[in-house]
Amino acid sequence: MNIISSESAKAKADKAYALFFVKESILFSKVLSAKGESQVESVLKGIKDGPFEDLEFLEIDGCNTFFVDAAKERGLSTLDHLRMAAYRLAQRTMKRQVPCVSLFLADAADEQFKAILHGLHYANYKFDAYKSKQKENFQVTFEIVAGDRAAAFKKIAEEVAVEQKAITLARNLINTSASDLYPAAFVEDAKTIAKYTPGLSIKVRNMKQLEKEGFMGHVTVGKGSSHEPHMITLSYDGTKFATGKSAGKSAGKKGRTSRDHLVIVGKGLTFDTGGLCLKPAKSMPEMISDMSGAATALAAIQAIATLKLPVKVSAVCCLAENAIGNKSVLPGDIFKAKNGKTVMVDNTDAEGRLVLSDGLAEAGLIGATHIVDLATLTGAMVRALGYAVTGFFSNDDDLALMVINCGEACCEKFWSMPLEEEYADALKDKFADLKNTGSDAGAISAALFLQEFVPENTAWTHWDIAGTAFVTKKWKYTEYGATGFGVQTLIELARELG
Ligand code: BES
Ligand code: ZN
Ligand code: ZN
Repeated sequence: MNIISSESAKAKADKAYALFFVKESILFSKVLSAKGESQVESVLKGIKDGPFEDLEFLEIDGCNTFFVDAAKERGLSTLDHLRMAAYRLAQRTMKRQVPCVSLFLADAADEQFKAILHGLHYANYKFDAYKSKQKENFQVTFEIVAGDRAAAFKKIAEEVAVEQKAITLARNLINTSASDLYPAAFVEDAKTIAKYTPGLSIKVRNMKQLEKEGFMGHVTVGKGSSHEPHMITLSYDGTKFATGKSAGKSAGKKGRTSRDHLVIVGKGLTFDTGGLCLKPAKSMPEMISDMSGAATALAAIQAIATLKLPVKVSAVCCLAENAIGNKSVLPGDIFKAKNGKTVMVDNTDAEGRLVLSDGLAEAGLIGATHIVDLATLTGAMVRALGYAVTGFFSNDDDLALMVINCGEACCEKFWSMPLEEEYADALKDKFADLKNTGSDAGAISAALFLQEFVPENTAWTHWDIAGTAFVTKKWKYTEYGATGFGVQTLIELARELG
């Protein structure tokens, strides 16, 4: 797929045109003048009474014209409808092998233009690394006719390309089989990314170092596997890119200072068998996605550094394989976490919270002011909110509001869940300070457990992406597999903090 921007449409024999419409009206009215007002109006008159939903492709005066309904799916925001419309357009034109399509968008607002570009990019994603034959997508050129917005749109197009590259990275990592993407393999990928991303540095701890420094959550979860656990800390400091404007802005934002340091902590279980508390066979293949949090954290910081956002951000990837072996953690075992609290492993399948206890401790050690942890943490969250909405928790109302707003801006839905104190006692253990299971409110118990490891005076939010990271049937712009959920909201959060 090529996306080119031009001030006006250049005539070309084999070119098609795309019109976005919501019910009877066409979006971006300059489409009309560009194609000849009377012409399109008469077409619209002709089709107004017809079955509008069926209309998608017409020939007007020898030109192929695609009609894309931007309000088809229920429950999506206007911007997401636009993404879906662009996604469908790209799919159709690729299928019909249309070489070039002109989109008249001079009237589109920045966020509408951004939504359309994201939609086009999503259609280009495929994961066929394991197919015996790889097929190239047909290369459609989308000509964005931007009028006097050409310069502004070019900048947005560059940003979207960076964001989509990161989303693709996350999705590819998540979709890769666990025997190919074990902790040390993830580390190699992260090292390569750090090497080719200016301003991004990386620190890696292996099993020996983790044990020596007391990051026992990783050791406890990972010791049953032949693939040893690792923890990665990626760092980026963009404060030197702060302009006078954004430096001044941060002082005006409530409670925020130029010393803000956002740390993203990701659950990176490259596979989760459940350990000795073995998972049922049916739900196991999907556990290749149990490193979605770590992949999303890595992808987000890659984009944040590439975009040179004026903010300090780190990403901690907590990598382990929850496997069965003669060294596996046993139910009833007790270990001492990095922050000194002792934990009894009541259920070896509640392993994510154990590695995250180390990730949260590391976030504190490197000076986090804001922490986002994201994890495919509980089946309870899948049952509560499904695949379309991420349930999140926070100890800070300002940060919670930012999560909702940033999510909305990039079409990722979040729902605030309570850190209900009434369930906190259920985490207490007879012998140890805590156990890794709690009340029947599974997602809340997991969040309350994590809260025990949040460094003092730190704004924290936990995103349980168990339902949203990976879909087993088509959802929005994902056919099957990893969605890339969270990458965009994290980038948006970094923009907001910068
Ligand atoms: N990785 C799973 C959670 C999960 C379930 C992710 C479905 C994606 C889809 C997690 O490690 C887990 O097994 N959690 C247990 C916790 C329980 C034993 C307290 C769960 O939710 O059943
Ligand atoms: Zn588990
Ligand atoms: Zn897990």
